[in-house]
Amino acid sequence: MQPPFELIGTSTAIRSVQQELEYAARSDAKVLVTGESGVGKEVVARLVHQRSHRSRAPLVMINCAGVPDTLLESELFGHVRGSFTDAYRDKKGRLELAHGGTVFLDEVGEMSLRMQALLLRFLECGELQRVGSDRAHTTVDVRVIAATNRELHQRIGEKAFREDLYYRLNVVHLTIPPLRQRPEDVMPLLEHFLRMYAESHRAEVLQVTPEARSVLTAYRWPGNVRELKNVAERMVVRARSPIAGVDDLPSEVTAEATVPGAARQADVPSPAVALYDRVVNHGESFWSAVYEPFTAHDLTREDLRIILRLGLEHTRGSYKQLTQLFNMAPDDYKRFLNFLRKHQCHMPFQRFRAIPPRAERARTDTTRVANF
Ligand SMILES: Nc1ncnc2c1ncn2[C@@H]1O[C@H](COP(=O)(O)OP(=O)(O)O)[C@@H](O)[C@H]1O
Ligand SMILES: [Mg+2]
Repeated sequence: MQPPFELIGTSTAIRSVQQELEYAARSDAKVLVTGESGVGKEVVARLVHQRSHRSRAPLVMINCAGVPDTLLESELFGHVRGSFTDAYRDKKGRLELAHGGTVFLDEVGEMSLRMQALLLRFLECGELQRVGSDRAHTTVDVRVIAATNRELHQRIGEKAFREDLYYRLNVVHLTIPPLRQRPEDVMPLLEHFLRMYAESHRAEVLQVTPEARSVLTAYRWPGNVRELKNVAERMVVRARSPIAGVDDLPSEVTAEATVPGAARQADVPSPAVALYDRVVNHGESFWSAVYEPFTAHDLTREDLRIILRLGLEHTRGSYKQLTQLFNMAPDDYKRFLNFLRKHQCHMPFQRFRAIPPRAERARTDTTRVANF
């Protein structure tokens, strides 16, 4: 399947990566992409290449993990005939094949110190020396993008990664946070994958109930976007009806949720999800748990929006019900809305209304006007 050539996400983190990658694409600077496994490092590398002036030349990918040194050296730099048992003829290395284009060195943090030294030499002079040859064979023009899920500073401290190579590779540094630190990207990504798999499995695009959305948004996603993509495919393949509820989610996702609409606790680093949980599941008032830290600048507007979004997904867009869910007095309604408008956090309710569960559709339709 064609990988999506779009970096989906609305979080500040993803928007800034989108912007940075545009700048990176306009230059020829080396790019280092870091982030946990499955966050989208390869997507970013592809986009940088595709949007650069090198896009018509090849993008050559090399995974540096799990490849024995001798093989990796010959893959990168090529070899001459007779340099080892199976070397029947001269072979070009991938760096040479990428001439004019881009080379993506994935998992660069796993390279041995010996390979790091060879790579550094290449980066310094652009010369390729094939395995088995005693001199440089040619020079190439390639742009290097490297990625790692390792903490390279730590590797440098352990003397497992060369500091000089680190500075060579790290001209533009793009960091992609794990998905659990940007829960607002979960639904846009899920919807993207649901559409994609609906097309490839020739199925109807699955709708997701507000409860299931809340559970998905609050889930920790240890495997990041890769895991989410996989969950989306399973949901499409196993769909029993056009609307997916909490029961249709994989057990590892629901195991973490307490009640429908609940957010996970404790180890979720996002303050928004933790605060939402305190309000919705632990009876704290929005005013003390959210409003106060927000006005004290301890909580960002983006966090506030996440909390509202999780709540509105739960109430299907009803602000009236949201005041109840958030443990506010009924006559706080006006004050609440004024507060949201003042900080540009008032979201249109329609987008949360799109998918009322079937049985309730008639009822919610007739109460729509009254609710707002
Ligand atoms: N922001 C995103 N938008 C669209 N697809 C994404 C995004 N992030 C990750 N993916 C998809 O998730 C999967 C894992 O991403 P990948 O780039 O291979 O992660 P990494 O290289 O960081 O391990 C891929 O199928 C990729 O297409
Ligand atoms: Mg990868």
